[in-house]
Amino acid sequence: MKSVASAPGKIILFGEHFVVYGIKAILCSIDKRITATSQFVDDKIIRIKSSLGESVMDLNSLNNLENVQQKFMKPFFYIAQKAIEGNFVDQGIEIVVESEIPPGVGLGSSSAACVAVTASVNGLFHKLSKDDVMKIAIQAERTVFEQNSGADSSVSTFGGLVSYDLKNGFQDIPSRNDLDFIISNSAQVHDTQDVVRQVRNFKEENKDLFNKLCNEEIDIVNNAITSLKENNLNKLGSLMLKNHDLLKQIGVSTEKIDSLVKEAKKTSHGAKITGAGGGGCIISLVDDFNKKDTLDNLRKISDCFIAKIDYSGLRYT
Ligand code: PMV
Repeated sequence: MKSVASAPGKIILFGEHFVVYGIKAILCSIDKRITATSQFVDDKIIRIKSSLGESVMDLNSLNNLENVQQKFMKPFFYIAQKAIEGNFVDQGIEIVVESEIPPGVGLGSSSAACVAVTASVNGLFHKLSKDDVMKIAIQAERTVFEQNSGADSSVSTFGGLVSYDLKNGFQDIPSRNDLDFIISNSAQVHDTQDVVRQVRNFKEENKDLFNKLCNEEIDIVNNAITSLKENNLNKLGSLMLKNHDLLKQIGVSTEKIDSLVKEAKKTSHGAKITGAGGGGCIISLVDDFNKKDTLDNLRKISDCFIAKIDYSGLRYT
């Protein structure tokens, strides 16, 4: 028997970094997925196979995850260990992870993988509710990144377009927009924790300026929620450019990112960094009329692809 589940990656439309200081952000899951396929095997091992590598652990060493060589594999062993323990079995499991999402560039690939693997492994025993999958996926991610907010795993599990802030958590944005984004990869790998630390230093050294920028971000996000409800692409695009400018001011853009945004601006409704910055990806908002030109131009200088909002989240297939 094979148990298959898939979960989407995500983009941040507005509010990254400022969200760390309590301001509302807007994010959505995208129609690029990670699929996990699990099955029992005769050997008493957990074997994980992905395009990034393969890793094997004996069932009786699962309690000591410190020994896992490839750090990104740790959450998957954690998930397998919890499932085996919770279901009182000692059967080996092979997990195959297949991805349409480039890793390490702020598109939520590790969270999507944790959500898909949680649902797939536990599906060998019984299907978990989305709530339970999300909780385990967040714990699994915390084996690598302790301060993880859980935002990516939540949006990957439930899908859709949401706002998020530290005080109120997630709220659905009640509009079903069929937006098209072009995601261009700067190919500069970033470390979210480093960039967040860098912004904290900027804030400490520029308190008044940072407060002013926070107020500007609040306006941008509020206007963006209204524009999403009205499906006003021109307005949304110009708000994205304004948001990019704020991210530039706090120092998280790079020359390459700025050149991508400059190119995208020529034909799209607007563009900005998505996620931590310091490299990673930009998103450009396009429609049927300007999609091809924007894609052709950006393809000359980066790897890119089209993404839409995903409204389904975790799927058992
Ligand atoms: O991991 P990324 O690249 O999607 O960025 C995370 C978003 C930040 O606002 C920069 C950090 C956070 O914890 O919200």
